[in-house]
Amino acid sequence: MISTLLSRLRSGADGDPAHRLAYGADYNPEQWPRDVWEQDVRLMREAGVNVVSVGIFSWARIQPAEDQWDFAWLDEVMDLLHEGGIGVDLATATASPPPWLSTAHPEILPVTANGETLWPGARQHWRPTSPVFREHALRLVREMADRYKDHPALVAWHVSNELGCHNIYDYSDDAARAFRVWLRARYGTLAALNHAWGTAFWSQRYSDWEQILPPRLAASHPNPTQQLDFKRFSSDALKDYLRAERDVLREITPDVPVTTNFMVMGGTKGMNYPDWAEEIDFVSNDHYVHPGPQDRDELSFSANLTSGIAGGRPWFLMEHSTSAVNWQPVNVAKRPGDLARDSLLHVAHGADAVCFFQWRQSSAGAEKYHSAMVPHAGEDSELFRAVTALGATLKALAPVAGSEREPARVGIVYDWDSWWASEQDSHPTSLLDYRQEALDWYSALLGLGIRADLVTTRADLTRHQVLIAPVLHMVPADLAKELTRYTEQGGHLITTYFSAVVDENDHVWLGGYPGALRDLLGLRVEEFGPLLPGETVALDDTTTGSVWTDRITVTAPDTEVLAGYRTGPQAGRPAVTRRPTGSGSAAYVSTRLGVEGLTALLPRLLGPAGVESELPAGVRGLVELTVRRGADSRFLFLANRTDATVQVPGLAGEVLHGTPLAHGLLTLGPRDVAVLRRPAD
Ligand code: GAL
Repeated sequence: MISTLLSRLRSGADGDPAHRLAYGADYNPEQWPRDVWEQDVRLMREAGVNVVSVGIFSWARIQPAEDQWDFAWLDEVMDLLHEGGIGVDLATATASPPPWLSTAHPEILPVTANGETLWPGARQHWRPTSPVFREHALRLVREMADRYKDHPALVAWHVSNELGCHNIYDYSDDAARAFRVWLRARYGTLAALNHAWGTAFWSQRYSDWEQILPPRLAASHPNPTQQLDFKRFSSDALKDYLRAERDVLREITPDVPVTTNFMVMGGTKGMNYPDWAEEIDFVSNDHYVHPGPQDRDELSFSANLTSGIAGGRPWFLMEHSTSAVNWQPVNVAKRPGDLARDSLLHVAHGADAVCFFQWRQSSAGAEKYHSAMVPHAGEDSELFRAVTALGATLKALAPVAGSEREPARVGIVYDWDSWWASEQDSHPTSLLDYRQEALDWYSALLGLGIRADLVTTRADLTRHQVLIAPVLHMVPADLAKELTRYTEQGGHLITTYFSAVVDENDHVWLGGYPGALRDLLGLRVEEFGPLLPGETVALDDTTTGSVWTDRITVTAPDTEVLAGYRTGPQAGRPAVTRRPTGSGSAAYVSTRLGVEGLTALLPRLLGPAGVESELPAGVRGLVELTVRRGADSRFLFLANRTDATVQVPGLAGEVLHGTPLAHGLLTLGPRDVAVLRRPAD
């Protein structure tokens, strides 16, 4: 639990409340001379920092050669931080193997699908399945844990760093061996594997386990189930590695919570985090904004999904940026107010810690142009002043710490298997974008001022009156039953094109699409109608579809057609349908409507469930409302989504952050976030 970490943080210094939100950064003192360290601690105190992650990339410094250890500098850093009242989320330091290791053991280096070696010189150049790497890494973890197990600064363990960021897919011989072990455990017999992989196709039948390889560069599309299983295996291989580090830590320090930083954000897909979350004591996430029209919706979406992965419990924002990053084609600086707004949006969605990459901006190395809490310009800078102001805000938000997310009436289902399977090659279209489709539904709901929770298929789906399941491509029989029961018991399911098409082996449910939910939806699709890039179709409710259409035949007498195609290959046929199921319903949207189209359609889809915005009419879409619930308080976060001042009427409660209410009217400046506390009912 993150509360274990929070309660390990020193309280009392500078009048800190006993239990408050954590604030800090990755701290890399090994990049700086000794005299800077004291300045750092002074500035951290000034900024209200109470936790830092140390040692993430320190392997080469801690262990300069196989049998040499140098902990003196780290001892000193830990002591200095402790004296300054700052807790340490101590990394196991295994993220980037030192040159002596990769020189002695080049067999730890990952290999791409094309057979190219990923050489040292950057970071994370190790195979998740390498026994040699694991042996050396676990030796280091043990040394770290033994050395610092009783250090009073230690508040949590930070396993490696962003596992899978650069090394999720490795096609080496180590990977091939481990893949076979994983497949034997999954299928038991070759016959079962041959069936699951559909190897009757293209003469792929295996007669010996040793013949099986990762899906390396091939003459044409590799077997789809092999590709899917390799994705599952690759995620599991890193999960297994995470467990190996964790087990050493738990053995030596059973009372210190263990975490690792996830990357729930645009651009990452390989790690099945809902599955990993069960292995650690609290969920941590890193998030970076990709500038664009939906950038803050995407931030909110990622934070919301992180909360879903954490089961609604508080989580730790391990990294985000104070301003620009260094790894996008153009690295845009944040505008005034963005730093606080971005941080508070994460808190709104359950973060109990707000940390940045990194504390002090590097003067050398690949990330020297990446922003930090202390920029190149130094403490006399607008950025450091904004960092200090945020520290004060987070102190004022101490009562929020420990509160959980208050469930919304609408849930959006996000499913890793469907994500992986729907975007594989050799499909009807390569234009399908699973995450973007889910984000569009989320943006449309934000635009209507309707709260929604991102949930995974591991969650209790019955908690939500409405479940939106965009592109729920892979629907095994059990999930089909669960969704059917959900609608029969009064739930309202909304799903879309290319959903419920395949089972867990990526085999098509036969008899017409969407096979697993065909009867529930009361329709049948004989053929998909993907659209060319840029091609659109008009619907008779004035919305416009792109990417996909379906040739729908309504099969149940009670299926209502909510909108039909007016143009395109399916002109005159249904495009959007809904079938009542007792007190619930099952709706189907057969094309990509985008944010605008979904905004127009959603009120009709949500109507039967009686879901409406909780915001006053004039500010819907301008403000994002999020609610956290504690033992005796509810915390309302109101975030201005616009660049203009917005006034929200009709509010009551204690303002923990923001301008005082004037007769119930809250004024939110551009990009401001306010936090109100109310008694829980
Ligand atoms: C993360 C990583 C950090 C730093 C940061 C830059 O992926 O964990 O070490 O590289 O990105 O944005």
